[in-house]
Amino acid sequence: MDTQFVLKMEHISKTFPGTRALNDVSIDLRPGEILALVGENGAGKSTMMNVLGGAFLPDEGAKSAIIIDGKEMGAYDAAAARDAGIGFVHQELSSCLQLTVAENVFMGRLKKYKTGMGFTDYNRINRETAKYLEIFDSKIKPSQKMRELKIADQQVVEIIKSISINCKILIFDEPTSSLTDTEVAYLFKTIRRLKEQGIGIIYISHRMEEVFALSDRVAVLRDGCLVDVLNTSETDANTIVGKMVGRSISDFYPPKSGGVGDVILDVENLTVPGLYENISFKLKKGEILGFSGLVGAGRTEVACGLCGLMKTKSARVRINGEPVSIRKYSDAIKNGLVYLCEDRKQLGLFLRMKIKQNISSTNLKGISGKFFIKGEKETDVAKSYSEKLNIKLSTVEQKVASLSGGNQQKIMVAKWLYTNPKVFILDEPTRGIDVGAKAEIHNMLRGLVSGDTGVIIISSELPEIIGMCDRVIVMRENKVMGEIEGKAITEESIMKLATAV
Ligand SMILES: Nc1ncnc2c1ncn2[C@@H]1O[C@H](COP(=O)(O)OP(=O)(O)OP(=O)(O)O)[C@@H](O)[C@H]1O
Ligand SMILES: [Mg+2]
Repeated sequence: MDTQFVLKMEHISKTFPGTRALNDVSIDLRPGEILALVGENGAGKSTMMNVLGGAFLPDEGAKSAIIIDGKEMGAYDAAAARDAGIGFVHQELSSCLQLTVAENVFMGRLKKYKTGMGFTDYNRINRETAKYLEIFDSKIKPSQKMRELKIADQQVVEIIKSISINCKILIFDEPTSSLTDTEVAYLFKTIRRLKEQGIGIIYISHRMEEVFALSDRVAVLRDGCLVDVLNTSETDANTIVGKMVGRSISDFYPPKSGGVGDVILDVENLTVPGLYENISFKLKKGEILGFSGLVGAGRTEVACGLCGLMKTKSARVRINGEPVSIRKYSDAIKNGLVYLCEDRKQLGLFLRMKIKQNISSTNLKGISGKFFIKGEKETDVAKSYSEKLNIKLSTVEQKVASLSGGNQQKIMVAKWLYTNPKVFILDEPTRGIDVGAKAEIHNMLRGLVSGDTGVIIISSELPEIIGMCDRVIVMRENKVMGEIEGKAITEESIMKLATAV
């Protein structure tokens, strides 16, 4: 028996209708090792891990095998994977929002936690959950409903869910995309502790800094094939990215605005009672304005208040000098104000609908004839945006659920672009998007503001804010702490305002 490896996946292939997602991929993992899994959007990373997690059966192949802790597994499902010691922190948060934190942690195992009367023993699951939350220094309460939590906290719960099953192998699928720098540092500390305990870790990320900060080896996937497995200490980011994309891409941001025009959006005294008061700011044509701050600083809430997604009081909003009244989100869209929200699953996409239906859903007028929706028009629109944003799909008839995470994000961008917005607010627009596609979206946004559009970017990624924005508003605890412009926008100046040190 080979005890050197806690996991061997050999000759794994997976075919979906129209797509060969994995093509004869083999990887292995030692106890206490961190293996980074990288590749462009749609390269097959999540699919590989879903096979390991028992969500997908791999294609049958004579040589294909999955060996966990020396034991060859036959065909197995998610429950069997969990029993074999596989923990999974998913890319798309998969918690039940209407259940409590503790119920989510013990989901699938609640049978073992019953009182004599046969009811769930809440005291016990709350107590155990509190123990784990403590390890994480978290303020979350076990009895809180999942839906009350920010995405970052929901993720913490998912991590706890996995470590509470005493897993031997723990998979992280882009765990940091919605965490702040401090939270990331915290997560890394936890991951290193898990490593010390001999847990094998597979870590999917689009961020090279993370790959180098954490991993022992890097496996690179491209178009469903394993390109290479490298020792992290013997390679560098350029080499890895080169293997990922098979071409070289520039990591430069597009040049900033030479000059800006008239005020396009003027917000005065935006107030959401009990949350924030009298937030005022302006956005000019040709300008990209950033909202920076730690997760939870109130940036998303300002966007939601402005766009009628939260009840506001006493705001005066002007677009191109004209006062507008925005009570609900449809008023915002009518006035050319659109908001791409940070969580595509909850508010953004109709996962069970086709790609083309999702893209046109925001602008049915655009594809309608006198009475009916024109099918060809809808298809053409979808095709043109898919090309523009380089969305990896086999046909626009596909359901959005069948796209890789990063490509779903691109569908969101496409669908809001199709409304021809005057003001485009994007909340964490490139979360989960690979390096190449990220550059495409950044270029596209710069192109957008060279017309008559103004763009607001909310981002927790400092390089993105610094690289993209002409002006930055920094928030902390639901207040505007200050504004930085031009060359003065630096990591230091932003963090100073964001953390008030
Ligand atoms: N359920 C499914 N049905 C059909 N096709 C699928 C399904 N799941 C994944 N695919 C396809 O398989 C390919 C690989 O997808 P996968 O989700 O593994 O990519 P990924 O490397 O995780 O990308 P990302 O970085 O965007 O998350 C993609 O082309 C995707 O559209
Ligand atoms: Mg993925």
